[in-house]
Amino acid sequence: MADVSTPGFFISFEGGDGVGKSTQARLLGDWLAGLTGREVVLTREPGGTDLGKELRAAVLHGADMGPRAEALLYAADRAHHVESLIRPALERGAVVITDRYLDSSVAYQAGGRTLGEDDVEHLSLWATDGLLPDATVLLDLDPSVAAERRAGTGETPDRLERAGEEFHRRTREAYLRRAGTDPDRWIVVDAARLVEDIQAQIRVDVAARLGLTPVVTEAVTEAAERHGTESGNRAATDQAPRGQEGRA
Ligand code: TYD
Repeated sequence: MADVSTPGFFISFEGGDGVGKSTQARLLGDWLAGLTGREVVLTREPGGTDLGKELRAAVLHGADMGPRAEALLYAADRAHHVESLIRPALERGAVVITDRYLDSSVAYQAGGRTLGEDDVEHLSLWATDGLLPDATVLLDLDPSVAAERRAGTGETPDRLERAGEEFHRRTREAYLRRAGTDPDRWIVVDAARLVEDIQAQIRVDVAARLGLTPVVTEAVTEAAERHGTESGNRAATDQAPRGQEGRA
């Protein structure tokens, strides 16, 4: 894994459009703030910075463009995001949770648009000076189910959402292929389940990846003692102790 030696924790959420990434990211952020006592920074790509918002408008709602221009705009957004927001937060010891990161480019611009996977990955690694997440959560969902969910919101689809079913199918396959090659970083979750069931799995798996399992276990034990029961799981996720450290 490249360059994850900062004091903070870096987590990315990935998946197709409309799979529920932002809801799951927010729930995980609230939980990790309580569990670790650390600052939690929730952000997203494209558009996590002021410059990024301009790039987001261009790439999602601007004139049509070729796949290389598209890949470069996402990479430019990412370069600025990492330099001005993500790295400083990680250096402060924060938990940074981003809704999409480099793997979106590999899945969409390589898998979807059919640029070379290595080219797209190298472009992003150059843009970010090699920063990879400690853990990446893939919310996996059949693109036709995700499309139905999006249709239900009544929002106007952006350039990428309009790219068609075959594009989104290739994107999903690219994600799953990529997740299979690095199981230490990736957590694959079936996003067709209930929001709370998905979140429960994410908490367990993220805690394990970040070395926080002992902190969670202690919280479960304390909650069980407080409630006079051995099954304090749910209480623990809500009432975990503050100010305890993981990984390191
Ligand atoms: P996002 O706002 O996350 O959309 P959604 O909430 O629907 O998932 O992302 C906007 C779109 O940009 C989405 O269709 C995925 C696409 N995208 C790429 O194609 N490449 C990238 O590198 C990133 C970050 C996003």
